Amino acid sequence: MKIKNAIAFVTGANRGIGRAFVEELLNAGAAKIYAAARNTKTLADLVARAPDRVVPVALDVTKPDMIRTAAKNHNDVNLLINNAGIATFEGLIAANDIEAARSEMETNYFGPLNLVRAYTPVLSANGGGAIVNVASIVSHVNFPAIGSYSASKAAVHSLTQGIRAELAAQGTQVFGVYPGPVDTDMSAEFPMDKTPTNTVVQNVLEGIEEGEEDIYPDPMSAELHAGLLSDPKAIEKQAGEMLPQ
Ligand SMILES: NC(=O)c1ccc[n+]([C@@H]2O[C@H](COP(=O)([O-])OP(=O)(O)OC[C@H]3O[C@@H](n4cnc5c(N)ncnc54)[C@H](OP(=O)(O)O)[C@@H]3O)[C@@H](O)[C@H]2O)c1
Repeated sequence: MKIKNAIAFVTGANRGIGRAFVEELLNAGAAKIYAAARNTKTLADLVARAPDRVVPVALDVTKPDMIRTAAKNHNDVNLLINNAGIATFEGLIAANDIEAARSEMETNYFGPLNLVRAYTPVLSANGGGAIVNVASIVSHVNFPAIGSYSASKAAVHSLTQGIRAELAAQGTQVFGVYPGPVDTDMSAEFPMDKTPTNTVVQNVLEGIEEGEEDIYPDPMSAELHAGLLSDPKAIEKQAGEMLPQ
């Protein structure tokens, strides 16, 4: 998939990694970018940068009717980027109730699932195109300190594999992105090395162009992925040392 002249739809485009997607898609020559956010006012400066190429779209990914409307109104898309996500930083058992786990599933799993289902005919009509799901390195190993988030990201990894097989016949490429810590609001409380958003997204776009189905876009995710391949139990034990507070 070539980024130049692509017509992209990015969820959670107003801040963090989603905002970097809009910026780097512009830099890479995308023809049009639908920048989707819950509050379109937060997109004003992005739109002002390239009013002819950045189109603001109001979208809450937990609202299936809004997703259906977006797919109906913006049907020239050939690159769907499921980026919006939440993290509650709760343990699976330490959490007071299961509402955190449920809300993470709604946003991080059912959101992308509904978007993929709505955009499947659109992508097919536009030559196949591509879907990019922003999962996480914790899709592959549960970090108990963020146990319910890890489970939701494991779910989106499984979704990614499933739709890759289902959509192959219509020529849609499906990419999974598995970042480690990225410097955004989401990771603000974590005192650790974090990769800048634009670096992560540049690596993702490079991976898409090269047809790399599973993208590990930063040093920590690449290192953990290598560890998971060579000794998955050791990585599980290491992650298991970080318990909920
Ligand atoms: N930061 C990391 O270390 C890291 C690592 C691995 C993976 N990721 C993943 O990368 C993606 C982007 O995260 P980030 O770090 O950029 O987080 P962020 O700075 O907290 O931004 C999250 C984005 O998702 C949007 N969002 C949340 N719930 C939404 C909903 N129901 N409908 C529409 N938009 C919604 C937010 O919109 P509002 O402004 O309206 O809240 C915001 O634009 C997420 O899927 C995250 O899980 C992040």
